[in-house]
Amino acid sequence: FHVDIDAAQADKGTYPFYMLKEIDEQPNVMRKLSQVYLNDNGQPVINQDLLDALKAADRLYIVAAGTSYHAGLVGAKLFESLANVPTEVHVSSEFAYNQPLLSAHPFFIFLTQSGETADSREVLLNVNEQKFPSLTITNVPNSTLSREATYTLLLHAGPEIAVASTKAYTAQIALEAILAKALGEAVGQSAARDFDVKQQLALVANGMQALVDEKDDFDAIAKADLLHTPNAFYIGRGLDYAVSLETALKLKEISYVQAEGFASGELKHGTIALIEKDTPVIGIITQANTAALTRSNLQEVAARGAKTITIVTNNLAQDGDTIVLPAVDERLTALLSVVPGQLLAYYTSLNKGLDVDKPRNLAKSVTVE
Ligand code: AGP
Repeated sequence: FHVDIDAAQADKGTYPFYMLKEIDEQPNVMRKLSQVYLNDNGQPVINQDLLDALKAADRLYIVAAGTSYHAGLVGAKLFESLANVPTEVHVSSEFAYNQPLLSAHPFFIFLTQSGETADSREVLLNVNEQKFPSLTITNVPNSTLSREATYTLLLHAGPEIAVASTKAYTAQIALEAILAKALGEAVGQSAARDFDVKQQLALVANGMQALVDEKDDFDAIAKADLLHTPNAFYIGRGLDYAVSLETALKLKEISYVQAEGFASGELKHGTIALIEKDTPVIGIITQANTAALTRSNLQEVAARGAKTITIVTNNLAQDGDTIVLPAVDERLTALLSVVPGQLLAYYTSLNKGLDVDKPRNLAKSVTVE
């Protein structure tokens, strides 16, 4: 006689799926990271050895897979804009066997929710052999990549059970913002000094709460526009492009809609041929310098029959926009613009009757190369 007790199962509470619970936890994860890594004055509390090693680097290399890679794309912008240090982002399975020419003093940042991803570990083993310093940012204390890197920072997001990663993505970005501020201040960047990350993360947490409180709206959009479509596009520029990649991945992996995240200016160079009557195209617009351009790209696809949906920060919003996000510092809008994408993917999967937490062919951590 054998009884399987799934301890994590008990934690699901009243939620039908872990993914929804984990989406809802994001405001608290933002607050938790603020508590752990910022003091009362809003100054980052980061290990001095780690900061010194980062300061000594002439280039940062962020290495990750899947959703963590997408969080790295946002992080690179933060490190470049706040700390003025060139930052590259690489897919770990590519980097492992095609290492690019490195700078003289590289520093490696591994982003990995599980800390067990084999592709990322392979790169870390190479990096260790070359004796370069490294940091693992992970949600799992004592995980393999955390043990094998020079430094570790924990995401404090609580266990993430759903295969589709949500709160780890936003936690990674928030922690990158804190680290970028810490590094920027350490190297005397005024942009870092002026960036009130504590206040911004508080605004983000409230903004996330407002979004997750409107679940019915996302359920309705999913039912109307995504449930019966074979394909869909997310488009944006800059940070909005980075979020487009992540929201498209969410839709693919749990609802099996063939989704693409696209740089909106690149559509007309080929992909626009795929637009048919009622193809959903979701535009993310949070960056003032490219808002008008993405809007005109949306008009181009609408003229070819696409059903357009907009996710826009309220300072850039216009009549007729679909989802309006509260405004936060432009460098942190990914933390809010991703949430509608997470919820749209969730409700599309749910309304299809799929197993939201355990999509076909996927495992929570990918421990083979
Ligand atoms: C995200 O929804 C995925 N299931 C997947 O892309 C994941 O982010 C990737 O496998 C990396 O995992 P890690 O963060 O644990 O290294």
